[in-house]
Amino acid sequence: MAESEAKLSALATETRAFPPPEEFAAQANAKADLYEHADADREAFWAEQADRLSWSKKWDKVLEWETPFAKWFVGGQLNVAYNCVDRHVEEGNGDRVALYWEGEPGDSREITYADLKREVSKAANALTELGIGKGDRVAIQMPMIPETAISMLACARIGAMHSVVFGGFSPGALKARIEDAECKLLITTDGQYRRGKPAPMKENTDEAVVGTTIEHVLVVKRTDTDVPWTDGRDLWWHDTVGKASEEHTPEAFDSEHPLFILYTSGTTGKPKGILHTSGGYLTQTAYTHNVVFDHKPGESVYWCTADVGWVTGHSYIVYGPMANGATSVMYEGTPNTPHEGRHWEIVQKYGVTIYYTAPTLIRTFMKWGEQIPAEYDLSSLKVLGTVGEPINPEAWMWFREKIGAERCPIVDTWWQTETGAMMIAPLPGVTETKPGSAMAALPGIAASVVDEQGNGVGNGEGGYLVLDKPWPSMLRGIWGDNERYKDTYWSKFAEQGYYFAGDGAKYDDDGAIWLLGRVDDVMNVSGHRISTTEVESALVSHPTVAEAAVVGASDETTGQGIVAFVILRGSAAKDGGDDAIKALRDHVAKEIGPIAKPRQILVVEELPKTRSGKIMRRLLRDVAENRDVGDVSTLADSSVMDLISSGMKEGK
Ligand code: WTA
Repeated sequence: MAESEAKLSALATETRAFPPPEEFAAQANAKADLYEHADADREAFWAEQADRLSWSKKWDKVLEWETPFAKWFVGGQLNVAYNCVDRHVEEGNGDRVALYWEGEPGDSREITYADLKREVSKAANALTELGIGKGDRVAIQMPMIPETAISMLACARIGAMHSVVFGGFSPGALKARIEDAECKLLITTDGQYRRGKPAPMKENTDEAVVGTTIEHVLVVKRTDTDVPWTDGRDLWWHDTVGKASEEHTPEAFDSEHPLFILYTSGTTGKPKGILHTSGGYLTQTAYTHNVVFDHKPGESVYWCTADVGWVTGHSYIVYGPMANGATSVMYEGTPNTPHEGRHWEIVQKYGVTIYYTAPTLIRTFMKWGEQIPAEYDLSSLKVLGTVGEPINPEAWMWFREKIGAERCPIVDTWWQTETGAMMIAPLPGVTETKPGSAMAALPGIAASVVDEQGNGVGNGEGGYLVLDKPWPSMLRGIWGDNERYKDTYWSKFAEQGYYFAGDGAKYDDDGAIWLLGRVDDVMNVSGHRISTTEVESALVSHPTVAEAAVVGASDETTGQGIVAFVILRGSAAKDGGDDAIKALRDHVAKEIGPIAKPRQILVVEELPKTRSGKIMRRLLRDVAENRDVGDVSTLADSSVMDLISSGMKEGK
């Protein structure tokens, strides 16, 4: 693990630490004894957290655990949407703003909890009328507009499962996800704003639904562009939902009733449909949103900049914050449309107090320059958070100084689509913070760093990150594939019964946890998980490509960048010029989505393979990062690396 070693030595020199500010600590939701309290009786602790929610029927048992299958709050019943919407209205907070929505072109909407209740009820009635019921799957591909959250909550309200697909994914990627989950309905928009201009949406989603189980397409009008229309199948949201009744009585579902599927990349080409259920998921998202962000209902103005197409958007735009009655900002567009101060302008406009974003964006802000945030009043900010990838100490310090005015605690939160909610993060007001460390498992959560054999390592040592006890928001499986679930997460440390996260980590001398990135073939580009095999399959599906190998190489802004090595076929091989490479990059964007476009494609004559034919990506990573190539003794033909390295240096 040459890469991890390099990171380890860089981190070893990081000694800065910041104690929690006293004033903050005095008013914080979480107190220092929370860790001890949780350790004393984990199940009792989680039962207390579940009491944050409103249950129609109380559970009989907190946890049923038969490795690796968990059931939380067994026998309990609740309605997730009721918890996120109605109960706030019933508690007299109907006038509280749930969403300050900011459109990319500058339009905005304010949606209160009472408005949300009406909209979600109408959508729930409309979905029921379209034949969607308990357990059915609904695909959603939409930009960041209120109807996206409303659609998700409407599904939850009637016990249907949503499968939200990121708006930047190609028709092929959407189709594969629709087919895997056999969705009956797709909710989408006519178009979407991208960098100030309307871009197509429905044209793409139309391509995806052909020949699938989709019976209806519900279309929200966003850009008011002309779209192709299939009578009988396609319905406008404003007609269908618009005329539906505002009265809807939520039904209570079992605590383990499925809530959603969210696809994420694994080490093979086929995305995994991660399955989450209701009671445990909502408990942990609500608890973590409250303690990690020090959220104060009715006071805090909370902004998570993620897209709802990713798990961060599910757990920390929709479910966690709304379960807590939060007032949130939702922003539709890119951070530099129409100017590079857009985020800070929004923070100033709404008086944002909690700002949760990704390290890649912080590095982009750093590139744009500190003079940009300096033009805005950011004094409302109280807590800053990051997620998605390891944050480098320089970015952390910049965030602290230029955005947080050295006043706001920074919470670096480690978790995954699979974990459903935050797992490792400091508690502001309680935990000391260090630039680049996620610090410690949250109260109620157990994590450790182990060696290849599964034995815990000591302070100052590194290894694999594992989760050694079940947690309420854990995935309940991979849709339709229990074997893959067991194999992917539970086979590496089967003897110990640990969940293998796929990340490397280390304890520092004080026992704080530092995340070191993935140890498998999953890349992390701007906080998005993309598998090397997924990009390789996209490349070899192009007629000019004979073979491809893809690696994630360190990138200053995006964390990792995708670097592809390709062998071209016969006649194409002679013309490995810029046009051929551009065609390949475009092809990957078309197959998967623009986020998967390789940063660099190198045409090579051979790939480094072991005698058994396995591509040695480690060596390609060395080349892509301009490092000396490591041990080549296991290669079938060691001269291959000389050829590739010299090609790289010549900039081919
Ligand atoms: C990485 C995103 C370091 C990690 C919520 C994990 C992080 C993968 C952090 C999950 C962090 C996420 N520090 N690495 N604070 N947060 N990761 O499923 O490699 O999109 O396995 O979930 O992102 O990505 P996912």
